[in-house]
Formats: sequence, structure tokens, C-alpha cells
Amino acid sequence: MSKNPVTRRQFLSYTLTGVGGFMAAGMLMPMLRFAVDPVLQPHAAGDFKMTDKKIADITAEPVRVDFKYEQKDAWHTADVTQTAWVYKNEAGEIVALSPICKHLGCTVSWEGSEKHPHMFFCPCHMGLYTKDGKNVPGTPPRGPLDAYPTQEKDGFLMLGSPVENPFVRK
Ligand code: FES
Repeated sequence: MSKNPVTRRQFLSYTLTGVGGFMAAGMLMPMLRFAVDPVLQPHAAGDFKMTDKKIADITAEPVRVDFKYEQKDAWHTADVTQTAWVYKNEAGEIVALSPICKHLGCTVSWEGSEKHPHMFFCPCHMGLYTKDGKNVPGTPPRGPLDAYPTQEKDGFLMLGSPVENPFVRK
């Protein structure tokens, strides 16, 4: 016999604690994984969305391009529609500008005001931007419109997530 025999009560206590802990872990792990897993999924860097705009059809005149895609945000999936104003600049580069005003986020449009031809116009507080997206001093916007990075696939335009406008010279 050992000097410290385990009593029946201790044996039962250890056994039940061990089995209970094992069962609790078995129940909690799937819940924990369900809660954390979507957050840990890697997001594709430089995720470009397809548009129905043919590269060959892009001219020097800005046109509105709407594009749709499915967005997964952790546990939620939604159909998203975004807009870009697309044209080719004098250097032959494709420019795709975000329509979101840099003042308070209203939607700008090309030649949206008869008083200001050849400009992007924001109707909320009369914001103005030049064709390359530069905000016009003296109007409310504090910075240039963002620009979408562009790619071509099978002759069609693809757009990334908007970034700081690289076409505006500082
Ligand atoms: S939100 Fe565009 S000018 Fe104010």
C-alpha cells in the first residue's frame, strides 16, 4: 500500500472533473471556432472586381461605370454596387475616380452642374473637382477624389479598392 492512498471520494472527484472538462472543451471549441474563424480568414490583397466596361470603349470623356460584387464581411455576405468615373487621360492612362466627395461623402458627378462644365460637381455643398479629381480651392472639399487602381482582363476593366489619387500632381 502507498503512504497516500487515493480515497474513493478523491478518485470520483478527479474523474468527474476530468471528464467534465473534456466534455466542456468539446462543446466550446466549435463555438469558439465559429466565432473567430471568419475574422482570421485572409483577405486577398489587391482584390480587383470585374466591370462590364470594355477597355477599347474608354475615351477621354469621363463615363459612369457601375459594378457589382459579393462582399463577405466576417459572417455577413451582401451584394455591393460601386461606381467609378472612368476615362483615358492625355498620357493614355486609364483614370477611374471614386464618386465619393471628400467633404462629407456625397456623390459627385461629371458635369453635374451646367454652371461648371468639364468638372466633377458635388451638389450637397457645391463642391468642385477638376477632371483629374483635384479639389478646387475655395470649395468645401479638402482633398482630391480617390482613384481606383485599374487592371485589364480579357479586354474588360477591373477595379481595385480606392486609394489616394495618383493623378493629381502636388
Ligand atoms: S459633401 Fe460634397 S461638397 Fe459637401
